Order: sequence, then structure tokens, then C-alpha cells
Amino acid sequence: MMHPPVGIIGSIVLLAIPFVVGHNHGPNHLAARHEHGHQYTMHGPVIADPTLSINGIPFSTRAHWMRVANAALAELESPCSFSAFATAIVNHTAPGLGELVCIGVNANSKTGNPTLHGEIAAITNCTAVMTDPDGPFRFTPSKAQAAFKQLSLYTNAESCPMCASAIRWSGFREYIYGTSIDALIEQGWGQIRIPSISVFEQSFDLPTQARLIGGLLTNETDPLFFWQFNPDFPCPEGCARVSGTCKPST
Ligand SMILES: *[C@@H]1O[C@H](CO)[C@@H](O)[C@H](O)[C@H]1NC(C)=O
Ligand SMILES: *[C@@H]1O[C@H](CO)[C@@H](O)[C@H](O)[C@H]1NC(C)=O
Ligand SMILES: *[C@@H]1O[C@H](CO)[C@@H](O)[C@H](O)[C@H]1NC(C)=O
Repeated sequence: MMHPPVGIIGSIVLLAIPFVVGHNHGPNHLAARHEHGHQYTMHGPVIADPTLSINGIPFSTRAHWMRVANAALAELESPCSFSAFATAIVNHTAPGLGELVCIGVNANSKTGNPTLHGEIAAITNCTAVMTDPDGPFRFTPSKAQAAFKQLSLYTNAESCPMCASAIRWSGFREYIYGTSIDALIEQGWGQIRIPSISVFEQSFDLPTQARLIGGLLTNETDPLFFWQFNPDFPCPEGCARVSGTCKPST
């Protein structure tokens, strides 16, 4: 008659273990965040896991468009672009995968215009594409301006505050980035240290809202940015080291 209570105690102990682990995990997790200030992480406020189906769009579709942004480098410049910042602007109102409206890559050195980051180049290109009298859209300027409300901007690295502001001024429905500003800084890039989410947080007076999705497909975007200041990091596919820098290998 003494055994059943022991069994019950044993079960209680066993049941308690996951609870204790869970209990310890929670506060430690929060403590890690508090070290970086309030509920903020180093990257700013907590953001959603980019593999979730946010706005009904599955990760596989998001990954497809991030790969289109990455591929814009080879298409418009080189697979080993030093400033490997690339953007694809997509209409997810169209069914299935959605439709590409335009692409753009950092065009500072190509044009001499220092503000032509990938996002600005793409926004400029989409405006031209949508208002082109011989193009697929033939929108009036006011229709093009309004059309941005339906569009999603995919960029392979988190936008600088200039571009994050341009994204909010444009009225995009969604903004999706790969590699974070923190990761760029860690890898030697000069950056203005204002995360996009801080720009978004302060944009509440504007007439539209944009969904921010960060850290999408970083396993494929990070390698485009991690070789420039690290001679030991492998070059992107199709490229090889030539006197310290990555050049097309073909
Ligand atoms: C986006 O797709 C919708 C639905 O197909 C279409 O009505 C709209 O004109 C498209 N906008 C742009 C800018 O492609
Ligand atoms: C603009 O986007 C179109 C459509 O994706 C692309 O074919 C074209 O090369 C882009 N132009 C520039 C200057 O990026
Ligand atoms: C990157 O990760 C995603 C899953 O998050 C996976 O589907 C994809 O194949 C990975 N890419 C490479 C090149 O391994």
C-alpha cells in the first residue's frame, strides 16, 4: 500500500522536470533581452519568425522572391558585386507566387549617385516601369503612386534608415529583408545604426502601415555580404578571389 503514493510522487517529479526547464528558460530568455535594454534585442524590438505564413504568404514564396532579389545582382551587375544590395518589388495581390514589378541593385558606383541604394534604385525603376507608356502597366503618375500600397519590397539586407524611410514614404504593404544591419556591422560594413523597425516605429503619422519581416533566408543572403572584409570567407557562387577581392570566375 506504500507503493502507489511513491509512484505518484515519481510522476509528479517527472512532470515537474519539463515545467522547471520551461520555467528557467522563460526568465533567462527575457534576461538576455533585458541586457540589451527593455524588451529589445540587439536588433531592436522582437520581430516575427520569417518562416511563418504572414499575410497568407508561405515561406517558400517569400524565399522565391528573395532569391529573385539576389539574382538581380548577376542580372544587372555581377554575381560578385561588392555592394551586393539587391531588391525585388512584388505584387502579392496577383494570385499564386505574385508578380514581379521590377528589380534594382545598388547603383552608386555605376551612376555616381550616392543615394541609389538597391531599394531606391528599385523604387525609381518600378515608378519608371509602371508609368512607361509602352510598358506593361501604362499607369498615370497618380495611379503608379497609389499602386505601391499593393506592393511588397524584398531586399537582401536590412534597409539603411534612408531606404527604410523611403519604403514608408512609398506606402509599401510589406517590407521583407534578409541580412540584418547588426550582421553587416559585425562583418565590417559601415552602417548608420538605426534599425528599420525604429524608422517604422516613428512613422505612425503616415497614412499607410507596412508589415516588416526580417531575417528571411539569411543562409543565402549573408554569404553575399560576408566576404568583402573577411579574406577567409568563401566568394559567392560563380566568383573566386583575385588579389583579395571576389571576381567572376568564368
Ligand atoms: C497587382 O495585381 C492586381 C491583381 O492582379 C492588379 O489589379 C494590380 O493592377 C496589380 N498592380 C501592380 C502594380 O502590378
Ligand atoms: C528594372 O526592372 C526591370 C523589370 O524587372 C528589369 O528588367 C530592368 O533591368 C530593371 N532596370 C534597372 C535599371 O534596374
Ligand atoms: C536556406 O534555408 C532554407 C530554410 O530556411 C532552405 O529551404 C534552403 O534550401 C537553404 N539554402 C541553402 C542554399 O542551403
